[in-house]
Amino acid sequence: MVALDLKEHLKEKKRLVDKFLDDYLPKADVHPKALHEAMRYSLFAGGKRVRPILCIASCEAVGGDIDTVMPVASAIELIHTYSLIHDDLPAMDNDDYRRGRPTNHKMYGEAIAILAGDALLTLAFDLLSDKGLNKRLDSDSLLSIIKRLSSASGSAGMVGGQAADIQASGKEVNLPEVEYIHIHKTGALIRASVCIGAIAGNASKDALSALTRYGEAIGLAFQIADDVLDIEGSKDEIGKDVGSDIAKEKVTYPSVIGISESKKLAKGLIDKSIEAISTLGDKAEPLREIARYIVERKN
Ligand code: IPE
Ligand code: IPE
Ligand code: MG
Ligand code: MG
Ligand code: MG
Repeated sequence: MVALDLKEHLKEKKRLVDKFLDDYLPKADVHPKALHEAMRYSLFAGGKRVRPILCIASCEAVGGDIDTVMPVASAIELIHTYSLIHDDLPAMDNDDYRRGRPTNHKMYGEAIAILAGDALLTLAFDLLSDKGLNKRLDSDSLLSIIKRLSSASGSAGMVGGQAADIQASGKEVNLPEVEYIHIHKTGALIRASVCIGAIAGNASKDALSALTRYGEAIGLAFQIADDVLDIEGSKDEIGKDVGSDIAKEKVTYPSVIGISESKKLAKGLIDKSIEAISTLGDKAEPLREIARYIVERKN
């Protein structure tokens, strides 16, 4: 087998996701302009598109094709971008810099930033429930994808984790609590991205269960790596202010178990994720490479 060029893989899939989203999103000059401009501002500010890329890779790992999964993979990015806009708001993390640019509320004000987030979240479900765009998926699969994505995004998933994160800020918390926060605020959407790709690719029960374990492990590792980058990364590379977590007394893995234990834990989770999909063969190679990239990335 030819070794996978991960950099090229990520670049190419990102290009395809960006193209789909650009075609799908209302243009910036559609009334009300400030809202549509704000939605596009954050969406096209240069995110890595890790979640849609994982979704596509998972679909392809079980023999599915990219055209089938592209709309649902892109819908995940809409939800993710909404979560970032709201995460940066003064009432939440109060951050000024994101994806290498001033945050949405710094550009458009808090009201439009909140509404741009709301609109991106809603648009995700508009896209997911679009029969024409999702004609390659049967209705049962589509419904199960919508169910997974809503559960992973709401109070049982990302929003629940965000609430726990906000409430824990400035407090002493133990390992199970930081684990809860990370699994929910970040892990849930990443796990769902992998599962949704598998469902779109008509995965067998065994493959779906292996991919679920993979998604769970990389989801937690992803947020631990994000915590480490908040300390050791560079602003130019991460596109966000460094040291934001310490300044805001956020609960992170490094704050609970220290930085070197955090790195060890993240690496162990990656090994576990790769082990989980050992039966999937060559088609799952991008998933294995993406797992390694999650803890080695500089942004
Ligand atoms: C940042 O996510 C927020 C977390 C959940 C850790 P990403 O690191 O995927 O950010 P973008 O999408 O590439 O900007
Ligand atoms: C983000 O966690 C979780 C989300 C659901 C957006 P962080 O607050 O650590 O993400 P960054 O560091 O601001 O991207
Ligand atoms: Mg946060
Ligand atoms: Mg934040
Ligand atoms: Mg962070």
